[in-house]
Amino acid sequence: MAKLVAFYSRAGENYFGGEKRYVKVGNTEKVARMIAEAAGADLFRIEQKEPYAADYATCVEQAKKDFLEQARPEILGNPESMGQYDEIYLGFPSYCGTMPMAVFTFLEKYDWTGKKIYPFVTHEGSGFGRSEKDLGTVCAGAEIGTGLSIVGSKADDAGAEVERWLTIL
Ligand SMILES: Cc1cc2nc3c(=O)[nH]c(=O)nc-3n(C[C@H](O)[C@H](O)[C@H](O)COP(=O)(O)O)c2cc1C
Repeated sequence: MAKLVAFYSRAGENYFGGEKRYVKVGNTEKVARMIAEAAGADLFRIEQKEPYAADYATCVEQAKKDFLEQARPEILGNPESMGQYDEIYLGFPSYCGTMPMAVFTFLEKYDWTGKKIYPFVTHEGSGFGRSEKDLGTVCAGAEIGTGLSIVGSKADDAGAEVERWLTIL
């Protein structure tokens, strides 16, 4: 069974233990790479054509505006052939209690009928929020498996949780 880890993540300024810091690799990307390695899956980054700002406050403004407008920001590229993947690990940060709008853009490009989707989220308190429900709506026909929720600022320590999660899927 071919497996894909598709993820959205943002480098730049973020909160870590109450303090803002610039990072080169986002929290979700760290977890995505752990999953890809442990599961032997391919990796695909869901990337906005016009990325949100590296500055945290500006990014929040932009993301909130897109959420309120239910925008579908343009994304770059597509996995070569989604058809070849049976299992998709879908990773995203919690934005406004759900997935970033660009993840909706990505999901709406494909027919998910018969696929298995295992969602994973990084967040700072809201966990999956509404995202699993939204995922079920946008990926009608897919089987949505047990999800993994990781506190984003602790992504570096998520290895054991990732391993445990993969064994129960
Ligand atoms: C625009 C924006 C909106 C966010 N909204 C939420 C939220 O609703 N709930 C939450 O728990 N964390 C929220 N966060 C925190 C992120 O989900 C968290 O830092 C995540 O790990 C970031 O992942 P990344 O580094 O892969 O982009 C938000 C962060 C940003 C930048």
